[in-house]
Amino acid sequence: MRAIAVLTSGGDAPGMNAAIRAVTRRAIDHGLVVHGVRRGYDGLVRGDFQRLEARDVGGILHRGGTILGSARSLEFKTREGQQRAIASLEAEGISALVVIGGNGSQAGASALARLGFPVVGVASTIDNDLFGSDPSIGADTAVNVTLEALDRLRTTGASHHRAHIVETMGRDFGYLGLMAGIAGGAEVISIPEAEVSPDEIAARLRDASARGKTHSIVVVAEGCTYDAAAVARHFEEREAEIGFLVRLTILGHVVRGGTPTAYDRLLATRLGVAAVDALSVGERGVLCGAFGQQIRKTPLGEAAETKKELDLEMIRLAQVLAR
Ligand code: F6P
Repeated sequence: MRAIAVLTSGGDAPGMNAAIRAVTRRAIDHGLVVHGVRRGYDGLVRGDFQRLEARDVGGILHRGGTILGSARSLEFKTREGQQRAIASLEAEGISALVVIGGNGSQAGASALARLGFPVVGVASTIDNDLFGSDPSIGADTAVNVTLEALDRLRTTGASHHRAHIVETMGRDFGYLGLMAGIAGGAEVISIPEAEVSPDEIAARLRDASARGKTHSIVVVAEGCTYDAAAVARHFEEREAEIGFLVRLTILGHVVRGGTPTAYDRLLATRLGVAAVDALSVGERGVLCGAFGQQIRKTPLGEAAETKKELDLEMIRLAQVLAR
């Protein structure tokens, strides 16, 4: 193995740059040449590479996003697209690839591994819904940014006797809403795995108001079957009955941008180094993930196809605390 490539794919996550830096510098440490792939699998199919030296990845550790860019590629989803990607890698003399990303990205990595190309994945998604790592890169930052928003809404809510309905990111996985909701003391947490009906939310708000609460925070994860904006509008028409003035906040991509936490930088650094070390000892087709201080490797196929489950105990805890 003389040269490797690294790409970031899917939704960006704070800490991806730290992972690119770790992959690059560890690979150089192993005597390898490193190529960055611009704009994920799209760039891979088109052979869009840039040589990465140690200095090229300087000054990025603290930056959110990804210096390599990311994109969704329809072409790469086809067998022909995947073969074209492998041809691009081989034409550049690249003999292994590191894929930094979440579910869809690791499914792509698994497809390349099945076609015989040496690939190792690095678990990175703010949703933390990827089997084989708990947490994944970016999740800690996203929880903290979501939490800061809840804390800020609480203070203004208490001044105006308001209930803030907050839509959190996370696709169809409730991790972000649940963790930030518990840490932020939300009165109601509705996530896909434990949805609270709009009628039940209204009842809990009425109850909170009757018990003398000056504010209420209602977390509605974006994967719920109902639309948080529609519920907020409906509640606005029933403010007297509910006992609070109602406002809606959709956090959206705000939680994906900005500076990664120390935790995410360290996690990304450990996983990036682990990926290169795995390739250098001949490991192929695995996802590098972390469980606490331990790094674990999961076959890419298993990581991409297994549904991750939320901690049921945390869901129960949320129900007990959010009274
Ligand atoms: O997977 C990360 C994520 O931010 C999800 O939480 C969200 O549902 C989705 O990506 C948004 O995708 P896009 O950036 O394409 O709008």
